[in-house]
Amino acid sequence: STYDIAIRGGQVATSFGVTRCDIGIKDGRIAAIAESITDAAQVIDAGGLLVLPGGVDSHCHIEETSRGGYTMSDGEPQITVNEESFVTASTSAFAGGTTSVVCFIPQWKGFGVWERYVDARKRGETGMLDFAFHQIISDPTDVVMKQEVPKLVAEGVRSLKVFLTYEPLHLGDAEYIKVLLAAREHGCLVTVHCENFDAIGWRTRALLDAGMTAPKYHAWSRPRVVEREATHRAIALAELVDQPIQVFHVSCEDAAEEIARAQARGVKVWGETCPQYVTLTAADMDRAGFEGAKFMCSPAPRDTAEHARIWEMIRRGTLDIVSSDHCGFSYEGDKGKGSAGRDASFEKIPNGIPGLAARLPIIFSEGVSKGRISIEKFVELTSTNPARLMGLYPKKGAIQPGADADLVLWDPAKKVTITNALMQHAIDYTPYEGLEVTGWPISTIRRGEVVMRDGKVQAEPGTGRFLPRGPYDMVKPRGITPDGFGA
Ligand code: URP
Ligand code: ZN
Ligand code: ZN
Ligand code: ZN
Repeated sequence: STYDIAIRGGQVATSFGVTRCDIGIKDGRIAAIAESITDAAQVIDAGGLLVLPGGVDSHCHIEETSRGGYTMSDGEPQITVNEESFVTASTSAFAGGTTSVVCFIPQWKGFGVWERYVDARKRGETGMLDFAFHQIISDPTDVVMKQEVPKLVAEGVRSLKVFLTYEPLHLGDAEYIKVLLAAREHGCLVTVHCENFDAIGWRTRALLDAGMTAPKYHAWSRPRVVEREATHRAIALAELVDQPIQVFHVSCEDAAEEIARAQARGVKVWGETCPQYVTLTAADMDRAGFEGAKFMCSPAPRDTAEHARIWEMIRRGTLDIVSSDHCGFSYEGDKGKGSAGRDASFEKIPNGIPGLAARLPIIFSEGVSKGRISIEKFVELTSTNPARLMGLYPKKGAIQPGADADLVLWDPAKKVTITNALMQHAIDYTPYEGLEVTGWPISTIRRGEVVMRDGKVQAEPGTGRFLPRGPYDMVKPRGITPDGFGA
């Protein structure tokens, strides 16, 4: 037969529209899209279902190694930040309709990055997901920026990630500028965690001094203005250097407005948000006992009024990517939320929540099913735009001949109550437990192989492929600097 697989009778949804057509798959790629494709070894009936490009999650922390992790206190050195491995993360991703991720190579302060890349690459290749990397820079020494970064770029690592907060990851302005300059020289995107380290440090100490140590004070330690200030600064310095950036996990309109203003000036800045910023609130961190730790991430969840403003910023196009920022710390267990004890003050609790499997269902349900966005917009936010911005399009994020056959068969009417078991990750809880969603993945196909059907994930560990990224237009500098100097 002409094709290995024919997907018949579905409504094919891309960023360009929704059309009834069949898809022919050959050698792991989409080979044909036509009204009727019958000549295939295997036929998959997609009647009544949407056929979407596989989800692309451009911000996931998987099997990251660290010395001092995502807190405001210098943590103990640890081998991996949490329990999620590439195998368990792949299972979770496939369960939720995601087929590719961009995750992180760490940099331990005082160390280089090449060894970490070699190690992360090996770890990635144990899984089933296709993966690319952002290189975290926490110590931009000359050796790292001038010798190691060019080697990484040659390997296909095309983005540098910086943190403007966390101990010991945060960079000051001079260090951030060094990273921007290296990225510009080598054609990389810079992704930025925007919160003001010193401001959070001052608020944190003041709260602790006042005996306010419970998980809910995590939100008090980092109000919206702390995010807005750092977002403004990150963009201003990127504009000065003429280097494209993406602002990670925008939680509030205040920060999004900074992005919108810069975009209106023509600055190449993109904004990402996450499911937690349209579902969780600061009140969740005020649950009895230590429960609140389950919702602790940075920036902190805000309130329901803010959720509506985030949707508005999505509709305006200011925020055009939704990632999970999957960074699961179990509730129990010695690497988890309670690793410093159940009575630990908030600044010692690791920041981050799991969301790899929940991302598509939440955004589809809260977005499409509730009438806030179109199906096309959903596909853009969760697949096409991340693939574009990360330089993976149209291999990923597209349904067109030549693209990888990464597809999700999606039942737009299926009602599901989210439970931790459905997430199929290695984390012992989900912050979305009990959330009711309309719309659910029925089957996930990765490079022409059915890797999930009716919730059952079947994929061979070691089949995930590294996605090297070449130069691409979105991250080209504009060629505009003050007085034309420094370009
Ligand atoms: O709280 C969060 N978001 N943890 C993961 C690391 C990060 O800041 O992205
Ligand atoms: Zn420091
Ligand atoms: Zn972050
Ligand atoms: Zn993150």
